[in-house]
Amino acid sequence: MGTRELPPISDTEANLLINLIKKETGVHLDKSKTYLIQSRLASLIESTGIKSFYNLYTYAASGKHPSIVKQIVSSITTHETFFFRESAVYDSLMITIISDIVSTGSNSLRIWSAACSTGQEAYSIAMVCKEKFDQNTNIEIVGTDICHRSIDFARKGVYSSFEINRGMSPQRARRFFRPCEGGMRVCEELQNMVSFKTGNILNSALHGGIYDLVLCRNVAMYFSREDRTILYENIASRLKSGGKLVLGITESLDGLSDKFNKTNLRCCVYYVKKER
Ligand SMILES: C[S@@+](CC[C@H](N)C(=O)[O-])C[C@H]1O[C@@H](n2cnc3c(N)ncnc32)[C@H](O)[C@@H]1O
Repeated sequence: MGTRELPPISDTEANLLINLIKKETGVHLDKSKTYLIQSRLASLIESTGIKSFYNLYTYAASGKHPSIVKQIVSSITTHETFFFRESAVYDSLMITIISDIVSTGSNSLRIWSAACSTGQEAYSIAMVCKEKFDQNTNIEIVGTDICHRSIDFARKGVYSSFEINRGMSPQRARRFFRPCEGGMRVCEELQNMVSFKTGNILNSALHGGIYDLVLCRNVAMYFSREDRTILYENIASRLKSGGKLVLGITESLDGLSDKFNKTNLRCCVYYVKKER
């Protein structure tokens, strides 16, 4: 039996799916991304037996098939990440920020890796904390992402040798990972520091808790200006006064939030939530 030929996505179908994706994730795709929608959703259509892009949209929009919505979100969002991405963030920025917080006498620290994808950012922070900070500081790292598949992967903590070698030194790999079927598994001492949850960072009711430090990197670039304003408002509401926010190196809060002061540290920038 041959595979069924899927007709190319029409403008109407692309528009409907663009609006659905924007509503579900905040990710703003314009018409120039039609090819991306077609290529990323074609295999989902094949695997589910749904007959067309229009039917995929109506299934998802009906509210009766949440698993289809989840699969669309997983297929469309970009999950590119790697250990110690933008290494200056880990070499100097994280150490300075965390040392500042610890020097205030606080013996507990909560860190949020917002839009953490498959967990490399959260585990990289955990490695820096283990290397630089003493055992008496209780450090909790929470990773969240809208994509269920990425969060399941992060929780398992098993990475291929390609993923391990991309950004991480052999010394760190030896210290923090153990060989296992399928690659290398994060050691227990890191897994005990890190937990993962699914959720939409544009949703103010995402999850409870107040943080000392938030990393929200390489995701706001996919949002409209209006949604970026909502995002930074949500993050401000989750940070202590004086809490710190780190963005991706190409991202900025300029003109989007008045809740933070900008601080330069050598080649990096971070933001400090204003005291009330
Ligand atoms: C390019 S990755 C960035 C990962 C990591 N922060 C880094 O810099 O390496 C972007 C991630 O944002 C997630 N994402 C997109 N929209 C989201 C939303 N509204 N809420 C939470 N996560 C979202 C995607 O699922 C994806 O895993």
